[in-house]
Parts: sequence; C-alpha cells; structure tokens
Amino acid sequence: MKSYQSILFALVFVLPVCAQKKAPRTAIKPKAEFVSELMAKMTVDEKIYQTVQFTSDGTVTGPKTGDNFITRIQQGKVGSILNATGAKATREIQRINLESSRLKIPILFGHDVIHGYKTIFPINLGMASSFDPKAVELAARIAATEASSGGVHWTFAPMVDIARDPRWSRVSEGSGEDTYLGSQLAVANVKGFQGDDLSKINTILACTKHFAAYGAAEAGRDYNTVDMSERVLRDIYLPPFKATVDAGVKTFMVSFNEISGVPSTASKFLMRDVLKGEWKFDGMVVSDYTGINEMIAHGFAKDEQDAAQLAMNAGLDMDMVGATYMNTLKKSYDEGKVSIEVINDACKRILELKYDLGLFEDPYRYSDEKREKETIYKPEFLQAAVDVANKSMVLLKNNNTVLPLKKEQKIAFVGPFVNDEYNIIGSWAALGERDGFATSIKEGITKFLGNTANVTFDEGVEIQSTKRDLMQKAIDNAKKADVIVAVMGERENMTGEAASQTNIDLPGIQKEFLAELKKLGKPIVLVLFNGRPLTLTWENENMDAILEAWFPGSRGGDAVAQTLFGQNNPSGKLPITFPRNVGQVPIYYNHKNTGRPYLGLSDPEQKYKSRYTDVDNSPLFAFGYGLSYTTFSYSNLRVSSAKIKFNQKLKVTVDVANTGNYDGAEVVQLYIKDVVGSVTRPVRELKGFERVELKKGEKKTVTFEISSEDLKFYNIDMNNVAEAGDFEVFIGGSSNAELKEKFELVD
Ligand code: BGC
Repeated sequence: MKSYQSILFALVFVLPVCAQKKAPRTAIKPKAEFVSELMAKMTVDEKIYQTVQFTSDGTVTGPKTGDNFITRIQQGKVGSILNATGAKATREIQRINLESSRLKIPILFGHDVIHGYKTIFPINLGMASSFDPKAVELAARIAATEASSGGVHWTFAPMVDIARDPRWSRVSEGSGEDTYLGSQLAVANVKGFQGDDLSKINTILACTKHFAAYGAAEAGRDYNTVDMSERVLRDIYLPPFKATVDAGVKTFMVSFNEISGVPSTASKFLMRDVLKGEWKFDGMVVSDYTGINEMIAHGFAKDEQDAAQLAMNAGLDMDMVGATYMNTLKKSYDEGKVSIEVINDACKRILELKYDLGLFEDPYRYSDEKREKETIYKPEFLQAAVDVANKSMVLLKNNNTVLPLKKEQKIAFVGPFVNDEYNIIGSWAALGERDGFATSIKEGITKFLGNTANVTFDEGVEIQSTKRDLMQKAIDNAKKADVIVAVMGERENMTGEAASQTNIDLPGIQKEFLAELKKLGKPIVLVLFNGRPLTLTWENENMDAILEAWFPGSRGGDAVAQTLFGQNNPSGKLPITFPRNVGQVPIYYNHKNTGRPYLGLSDPEQKYKSRYTDVDNSPLFAFGYGLSYTTFSYSNLRVSSAKIKFNQKLKVTVDVANTGNYDGAEVVQLYIKDVVGSVTRPVRELKGFERVELKKGEKKTVTFEISSEDLKFYNIDMNNVAEAGDFEVFIGGSSNAELKEKFELVD
C-alpha cells in the first residue's frame, strides 16, 4: 500500500537525516578505545553492577522481587532498568543514577515494545498473517520512534519462537509455526527497531528472544520442559535467531525452559558455542525475568551463587531482575569460580551498547518531553495501524458471498466485542491506551457507515461468563436484520505469558449464543478476536462466513469495518495451522511423512496407517490458507531447468490471475520437498512467498529463485548441507498448493 511505504521511507531515510539527532560522535573517542579506557577505571564490583538489571515500579512482567530499584541505583549497583517509561520518568531516574555513580555510566532503559508502544498494531501473530515483511518493519519502525521518544533504549522484541501448539499462550507474540516466514519477519522487526544506525534517536536496540525452543514447551504449558534432537533444534527452531544475528541484532534473551536437561539460562552450548561462537554474535545476552534464580527450582543449581556463576560462565551477560549477579558474582570471582575475563567480556558488551546508542555523549538524549509529545500518536502512525491491521485479516470462510456486506443491508452486530476497547488491542500492548482510545467495532462501523445506518449493536453475552440476561435482546434485534455479524473471541490475557489452555474453543457461552442465532435462519458472519488458533469445527459448519481479525490493535474497529464492507479486500494467510480439535495438537504443515502415510478417505487402505480413527489427519485450516473476496487461479508452473548444480540458481515461475470480481492481493507461496535425504525430510517446506496485487481480470507472472542454499538442512553427519537428488516444488495460495514441478540437484 502506497501510504505506508512512504511512511516507512520517511521514517527510515528522511526523518533520521534531517530531523533526528545523531550522537555527536566527534565528542568522544572511538568505541574500542573509549570502552577500554573506561573499563580500566572500573573496579570488579562496578563491572559486575553493569550486568545488573532491575524493574522499576512500572509494569510488572514477572514475580515481584521486593527490591527497591531507586535505592539500588543510588548505591550505583544498576546497569539497566526495565519497565520505566516516559521522557520525564526516565530522565529523573537517569539523573539519580548519574548523581550517584562514580564514573557516570548511564542507565540503559528496556521495555517490552512488542507490537507497538502507544500506537498499537495487531498482535504479532496477526501481523505475520500479512506475509508482508515491509508491513512488519513499518510497525516496528513506528514503535521504535514512539518508544525512543519516551526514553526507551531497548525493546525485548522480536519474539521469534516457532510455535506449533496453540495451547501455548505465547503463540500470539510470534510469527507462527514456520521457520522461513519466521526468519523473514524476525529480520523485518530488527530492521524496524534498530533502523540503519543505532545512534539516531529514533532507533532502539532489538532483542531476539527467547533463545531457544521456548515455543516447544511440552503439552503447550508455558515454561515447560523441552526435549528435542539437535537436528530439529537447528533445522526448525534456530534459523530465525540466526537470521537476526546476520541482520545485526544487538541483544538476545535466553528462554526460561530447559532443553534436553539444561536450562537455556546456563546453556554454554547455546550461548558460547552457537551464538557467540559459530554465529559470532558481538552483542549482549540478557536472562529472562528471574531466569537465573529459577535454575534452583529446575534442579540445576544449588543456590543463587551457583546459579549465577553457571549462567555467567555459560555466556549470559545480564541478570534480569534476579539480583543474583549483584549479590554473588564478586564472591564467585574471589573464590576463583568466575574469571575476570568472563566478567570483563560481559561488561564490555553492555558498555558498547550504551556507546552505540550515544548515551555517553548525552545520557538524556532519548528522554525529551517535547519530542515525546510531538511523536506519540501521529496521525500517520494511527493510519499505519489501520493499514497493517487490514493486511492481517484472514478470511476463513465466505459462503454465498455473504461478505462483503452492503451498506443498505440491515445488520445486527452482536457479541462481546461490539463495544470492546480493551481486549481488542491484545496483550503485551506496552503503553497502548485501551478504554476511551482504541476503536471498538461499534465506533469503527459507525464511522464507516455514518449515523443513519440501519444497524444495531448488542453484546448478548460476555467473553467468558455464563450470564444470559442480555441474550434475548440481542436475539430480538437479530431477528429483524438481513444479516448477523457476531464479533467474538478471547480475552486479551488468555494469550501472552502464562495463559496456556487445554481448551481452545470459543470461551464461555459464545458458541451457545451462536447456536441460538443460527435458529433465526439468517446469514451469520463470525468475526474473531483471538491470539491463538481456536478449534472452530462447529463454527465452520454452521456460520456462513468467518473472518479472523486476531487482536487488531488501536485502530482495529476501523480495519474490521473496512474489511467487512469491502473497502479492504482480505489478503491475510494463516501463519499457523488451525486444528480440528485439540487432540490433533501439535499439528503443523511441514511434518514428516512416516512409513505409513495416510492418504485420506480415498486411501484404499484405512487400517495400519498413521491416522486417527475419529478425525481426519488434515487440519481445519491449513498453514498459508486465507480467502479473498475475489478468486485467484494459478497456471503454467515451470522451472528454468530440470537440473541445477550446487552453484547454480533455478528459476521457478508461475502465472497468477485474478479471476473474480474485485481487485485484491494474493500471497503466492512456494514450497519444496526434498524427496530422499540422508535423514528424512518434511513433506514440504515454505521457501518463498510474494504478495502480489492484482486488479480484477489482471494476470501476473511471478518468479522465484532457488539455490542450493535454500535446500540446506542438518544431514546425518550434522553438517548443514544440501544433498544432491530429486526435489519437488509446489506453488499456490496455501500449504496445500497443488501445482507441482520437479528438478534435480546434481554435483
Ligand atoms: C517474559 C519476556 C519479557 C520479560 C520482561 C518475561 O516474563 O518472558 O518475554 O521480555 O518478562 O518483561
């Protein structure tokens, strides 16, 4: 979309150059020299205190520790603070720090800016549905622009955890189940947050989290154990992390979970061998909230001193909130358990970030109330929130073209999201204002149609309670309508941290309410607000249309209105599989074939196949799936050659035509199957996608380039290589793409 591309351009290129201050680099010495001279003046204690992070009294994002952060700052014991926001507050905290600190080392302020700071974009899983790295980059760029004006130097994002289990509540914070899509969007986020130069005041440090495999928690229960082969870890879970290192991300956060017996917090393998060794990451690693202390409960450390020395020696540079480094590292140093080299390395990495941000030149440069006022909620930011939300909408069903709605229709809007301004922006919404600011469905529809429209708004039921007293009034209004639009879903805090569920149906009595509405015999459109795949088998059988709106952010009501009435033609695709029921979980498109693959009901052999006897193997809605108000046809798939060598590129080309009645955008997806490997390979894997805008009747040719780099995996010898042999390539509008070609990779 033109408008937001030009905003992105302005934010990345124009504003930073002409309006945004860069750190006056001439004022101090080059980084290496500056940091080493500073460190030469620091005592061991002062070095250790740089590795200490406390939370302010602001947002609480973990267990309370009872520590008074201001006292700690006055004692000069704090290198970083999280959850302190706002130009005024951060300036005041910085002042206290500088007045108390012997060497005047500025504090680094971190905050969870996940899908917006004040202007809230759709939840990350929603943004991933756009399959549009530019849209994701723009959202992160705007978030960084706002957050940096509020004194924030560092966000704890992006979360790049691959998630194949919708019971896990944090699926909402990431980009879904796919490694390739996840990697592209992880990079887009880093570019958006960090921009092209960290010393510009509208850029902030990004933090790739949670390292690693946090999304693979057993049974989808948050913080739970992970046990997986190194091959799966490296093939599926690590690539998005690696992609951000290659894109220049400056910080990493380790995860709460253990992997195969070792908590990530003290995993030398993850931090020293892979991240700082193989990948040559030169930034800083922070723990998750009290993650070091939690190694005692894990049964991996006997006390806090033990936990702290294990973590520090494994390569963990900063202790988030746990105070273990502050309280015990010096003792471990005196006892010879932690060397000065290790402490120096951690301290240096932290000081270098402060240097990169320009904090040594001016510790207050981000805390500027005037800039904050001018920056927050700029109209173009709020417009971008509408545009990105529009791209996140996924149309799951649309029978008899019930959508788009027509302005002349008599429409009954019902359901708990009718007036909702709270849940609609989703969880982890930083400083996003909810009630009184976010656009509800009623507000969005009323703005779109004007006050004279023939519409009614009734909640009917609440999200989770069993109260039925409002239901009849809603049904009475629905009786008089031509079409019913039910706006339903989850509470925002049913996803996000520590909210895993075993039941992922529509909560409360919402489904019961839908069943009552169904009895009226009118077309029903279900619009969903949720942060995870829900089980929608009944809804899919009984509703005429289903629009997945996720939690669409500050301007969600506008985007839903524009989409329902066709001003926006939905183009989102699912970044995560929707199961038929929870028993199918974990379910994901790039599974292995097994020795007894089941071919579905047409399979002549129904017994002794890898299948369930009570439900089909296929999901309800597949990864990559999403409809449009128009239709697209794919034809003429061709490859540039039947064989390629390892150093050659293959062109894969397809024609895509808009065959329906509306202009629209289609996400063209390319999947590859490696037919035989030295270890078994997935049935197919996404290796390319492109969003294509097509006018009604228009046809375009789309070409992808594939090289042996795209075909790499960890083979039987654990080498990351492509293997010669046969490959199949599929192109289409979902992971069920049927058009197929072949090629061979030859030595
Ligand atoms: C979460 C992290 C978050 C941190 C700081 C933790 O509980 O797991 O994702 O960045 O808190 O708020």
